[in-house]
Amino acid sequence: MEVLEAIKSRRSIRRYQPTPVDEKAIELVLEAARWAPSWANTQCWRFIVVRNTSIKDKLAETLRSARPDGKNIATEAVRKAPVVIVACAELKKSGYYHGEPTTDKGDWYMFDVALAMQNLILAAHSIGLGTVHVGAFDAQEGAKILRVPSGIVVVEMTPVGIPQKEVTSPTPRKELSQFVYYDRYGSTSPD
Ligand SMILES: Cc1cc2nc3c(=O)[nH]c(=O)nc-3n(C[C@H](O)[C@H](O)[C@H](O)COP(=O)(O)O)c2cc1C
Repeated sequence: MEVLEAIKSRRSIRRYQPTPVDEKAIELVLEAARWAPSWANTQCWRFIVVRNTSIKDKLAETLRSARPDGKNIATEAVRKAPVVIVACAELKKSGYYHGEPTTDKGDWYMFDVALAMQNLILAAHSIGLGTVHVGAFDAQEGAKILRVPSGIVVVEMTPVGIPQKEVTSPTPRKELSQFVYYDRYGSTSPD
């Protein structure tokens, strides 16, 4: 699939067929993540591929949301998808030089993990697999479940599976004119 087509046709998928996802497909999407750029090529990301049903159940229990009922609409996706990939990051690598942060942003691990995860998600889409970035969950609880050592944090997870049905309707996006400026912030015309 052509890159722009993959970018534009990807949608968050929260319902999956129970059909297993083979190891080759998982390797392909992890390979796409591997080739993401990162701060000084530090590659702080770590991935945990979860197929174990009871671990998926426990991870699903960590999902939260800001909705009044506290429910995260991806909870059942994490529980039922054949595979869940959890993205973690080694701290104090991205954005650091000799142990000190280089910029006012501090640790850039969120940025690098996001680049890798988006590569992974687009690669998954290109081979017919659905995913959804899941960020609203208790990451410390997730770390306990997955026995993540100190110095490494859990950042996000995505279920991976064959979509139950094709999602065709586009999720709305702002127009370019609402967020692109020229020469100075707030200047909406190029001249
Ligand atoms: C960093 C991040 C965290 C997200 N966390 C969740 C989540 O916890 N639960 C969920 O259902 N969707 C989550 N999403 C998916 C967004 O809701 C979704 O990408 C957005 O509504 C646009 O829809 P689309 O992906 O179909 O284009 C997350 C997306 C991003 C980028």
